[in-house]
Amino acid sequence: MDRRFLFLLSSARKGGNALALAQAAAAPIPAAAQVWIDLCDPPLPAFTDLRPGFALPHGPVAQIHAAMREASDIVMVAPIYWYALPAPAKLLLDHWSGWLDAPETGFADWVKGKRMHLVTARADPDPTVPDLAEAMLRRSAEWLGMVWGGALHGIGDAPGEVSGDRAAMTAARRFLGSDLR
Ligand SMILES: Cc1cc2nc3c(=O)[nH]c(=O)nc-3n(C[C@H](O)[C@H](O)[C@H](O)COP(=O)(O)O)c2cc1C
Repeated sequence: MDRRFLFLLSSARKGGNALALAQAAAAPIPAAAQVWIDLCDPPLPAFTDLRPGFALPHGPVAQIHAAMREASDIVMVAPIYWYALPAPAKLLLDHWSGWLDAPETGFADWVKGKRMHLVTARADPDPTVPDLAEAMLRRSAEWLGMVWGGALHGIGDAPGEVSGDRAAMTAARRFLGSDLR
């Protein structure tokens, strides 16, 4: 298999619903082709806009930069917070702007063609609740020249509750695994 999946977690709690749904989606993927990084542990540093200057990624941001470069597929794993992506996920996107301003990273070139996927969990069953988060990530990824791999949305509030969302758990089995090669 020539695909490598990077799962980026952004929940403010461990062992939650977004993770459980992402794990179900990851089940068909060989363990050696999966990398999991929690954007909250360690926390990402604040983004500083240094334009017209720039700084190279360092610390946990450098680790994510390297993991993204290695990956063919990036899976943003996110609870819905206030109709949006959680702050750590949004913060990573802000760091991408810094990478774009640092030509040595090569980010603008190597990110093109990678697939971006989204897995969310939310409490409110209204199907429009994740729309803004999905639209924001999709538009950002496509602006970067990435390929949109789709979104998988589950419903659950207490940890583990998403396993009762049968439609989401069934969709999870095919979400990432349907076109593996
Ligand atoms: C700060 C915060 C904001 C939330 N905002 C929403 C929301 O706008 N819509 C919603 O349906 N659920 C909202 N929730 C509920 C979570 O999305 C829900 O508990 C989800 O299962 C959490 O995912 P996790 O277990 O992966 O952390 C919010 C929860 C928190 C803690």
